[in-house]
Amino acid sequence: MANKPTILIVGASRGLGLALVEQFCARDWHVIATVRGASSTLDELKSRFPGSLEEETADIADEASVRALRRRLGGRTIDMLFVNAGIAKSITETPVTAPVQDFLDMMLVNAFSPVRFIEIFEDIVATDGTIAAMTSELASITQNEGFWDLYASSKAALNMLMKCYTAHRPNDRRAKLFVAPGWIQTDMGGSDATFTVEECIPQVADVLEKNHGKPGLRFVDRFDQTLPW
Ligand SMILES: NC(=O)c1ccc[n+]([C@@H]2O[C@H](COP(=O)([O-])OP(=O)(O)OC[C@H]3O[C@@H](n4cnc5c(N)ncnc54)[C@H](OP(=O)(O)O)[C@@H]3O)[C@@H](O)[C@H]2O)c1
Repeated sequence: MANKPTILIVGASRGLGLALVEQFCARDWHVIATVRGASSTLDELKSRFPGSLEEETADIADEASVRALRRRLGGRTIDMLFVNAGIAKSITETPVTAPVQDFLDMMLVNAFSPVRFIEIFEDIVATDGTIAAMTSELASITQNEGFWDLYASSKAALNMLMKCYTAHRPNDRRAKLFVAPGWIQTDMGGSDATFTVEECIPQVADVLEKNHGKPGLRFVDRFDQTLPW
């Protein structure tokens, strides 16, 4: 751990977060991976990468749980913070048909909570490090032509909150990165999704490493192409 950079990956029990944990362990990072409950697949990774992978717990929607994790990490330095956690509900609905609670849940988990997490942890992210979150191509107001309306709105809200976060800190030199990974076969993406985790997550990890520590705010896809807000 001594000379390795450290990444904190938030929401790593399954899907894209779990795959990113594997990528960063294989790339010789020290990884702190958070889950909400037991994850047998993360346990398997811990036995494959002993000494490189620490498991922690946090529910990003629960401020007390996030603050407890912050206290447990104490004076540690995180080189890269990546908030992956997210949910999708009522993906084919619109405001007139969706249960309002579904929209509120997505706004809480996908937009408000990631940025609150970042604000609570920013003091332990290295000043030349990276603060990043998983967003979506669907979050682009310019490009989205009517897919997953409510989910897309929550990810657009995430982008706005991070744009404001960055504007409030004009002298901050850390990289601020939003990565849109593509439509991927996971519990959330579903089996009809265009890409597999194996196809996309190495590219997401490439983008994170390539932009690590580069000052500025970017909304990019997994090929490091800038997306329109
Ligand atoms: N798959 C896609 O096509 C796609 C496309 C664009 C963007 N994304 C984004 O990529 C990220 C990962 O998606 P995925 O496809 O891997 O989804 P997934 O398979 O449903 O996994 C979601 C992950 O987020 C965690 N999570 C959910 N709510 C949480 C909370 N309140 N606190 C902490 N962790 C929480 C889950 O933990 P539990 O196991 O405890 O529920 C799980 O680890 C999400 O932000 C998603 O919006 C996905």
